[in-house]
Parts: sequence; C-alpha cells; structure tokens
Amino acid sequence: MAKVYVFDHPLIQHKLSYIRNEQTGTKEFRELTNEIAGLMAFEITRELPLQEVKVQTPVAEATCKTIAGKKLGIVPILRAGLGMVDGMLELIPAAKVGHVGLYRDPETLKPVEYYVKLPKDTSEREFIVVDPMLATGGSAIEAINVMKKRGAVNIKLMCLVAAPEGVELMKEAHPDVDIYLAALDEKLNEKGYIVPGLGDAGDRLFGTK
Ligand code: PRP
Ligand code: URA
Repeated sequence: MAKVYVFDHPLIQHKLSYIRNEQTGTKEFRELTNEIAGLMAFEITRELPLQEVKVQTPVAEATCKTIAGKKLGIVPILRAGLGMVDGMLELIPAAKVGHVGLYRDPETLKPVEYYVKLPKDTSEREFIVVDPMLATGGSAIEAINVMKKRGAVNIKLMCLVAAPEGVELMKEAHPDVDIYLAALDEKLNEKGYIVPGLGDAGDRLFGTK
C-alpha cells in the first residue's frame, strides 16, 4: 500500500502559508513554489543510496560518499507542475526532465491528455512526478497511467497541497506510488477546488487568472 508523507519542516510550512494567501502576487508565488519544491526535494532524496569514494584532501586521503549513480527523472504535470521543476533541479541538477501535459476539463473535472515526452530509459529511472495540487486525483492518476504504459516502474508523487479525496483515489489506483505532500487539506468543494487550498495553482503561477 502506498505511504503518504506530509513534510512538516518549519520552512516548508512557513512558505506554504505565503502562497496560500490570496494577496501573494505571481512573482512571489512562483519564487516560493520553487523554494518549497527544493526543500521537499531535499527530504524526498534522503534515502538515495551512497557509495564510498577516496578523496585526496590537502592534508590526507579521506573516505567520502557520493550518490551511487541513481538515475533520477522529474516529471511535471503541465502546466502547474512546471513551477516546481527549477527548485528541484537546483538540488539535483543531473536529473532528466520528462513532461506530461494534462488539463482538467472544467465541466467533467476529468483529465484531458495533450502532450507526453519522457526520457528514453523509462524503466531504469526513479521518477518524481510533480504537481502543486492533488484535488480529485484524476490528473495525477492519469499522468502515472501514461508513464507506466511507457515503461516507468519506480515512481513517487510530490504535491504541495492535497485533498483527502484525491489521496484516497491515488492510493487505490497506484498502491505502489508513495505520496509526498507539504499539506493535507480538509476537503474538495463543489467545483473540485481544494479547501482551503490556494486557488488555481496554474493561474497563480503564470498570471493567467
Ligand atoms: C490543476 C493542477 C492539477 C490538477 C489537479 O491543473 O495543477 O494538475 O488541476 O486536479 P485533479 O486532482 O482534480 O485532477 P489544471 O487542470 O488546472 O491545469 P493547469 O496546470 O494547466 O493550470
Ligand atoms: N487545481 C488547482 O489548481 N487548484 C485546486 O484547488 C484544484 C485543482
């Protein structure tokens, strides 16, 4: 069964409070989203395997550790997921970046696919799918379906804010995919928005409201 982690680090919670605020403008929203994504990436990569290497310091030879060649892939769900990529790449610059383009039909709330491009060696990579919002769960479930059809086997999902409804559906649809959040909110409203949430993440990131 999938595990759900909520990162309660004070810096993450502090920055999240600012992006929830309706008074926060596009520039700050974008900067803070990337900063939170970076802090979450720091936590999510905690278990990466290390290998020992010998390093000659100016004083002596030291036995040190480097990351053991793990192939990482970041996959933003377009468009709002793009707002998390730069912050993650600052910490893991060698990661490859795939894209899954989906939008949520405003009437049916069902995801509609319009673009997919993943790294070639899909089955060998550890993927982190990123999207600020996990609401009904439809977009994340479909993005991961699309990735599994193309051979992805090792996937984590990282979102800023989630609704319990979306988390439950994700766990049922993809029991092998652990979920990493900055906040688990109260519920969805009748329009499929997360309550209290932060509004429409894509519009707030790109100023398209
Ligand atoms: C938003 C958000 C998620 C999706 C979450 O995207 O970024 O992808 O809704 O909702 P769900 O869990 O109910 O599927 P949206 O469809 O607004 O597209 P955008 O990123 O292009 O703004
Ligand atoms: N998508 C968003 O951007 N915000 C929500 O609250 C729900 C879906």
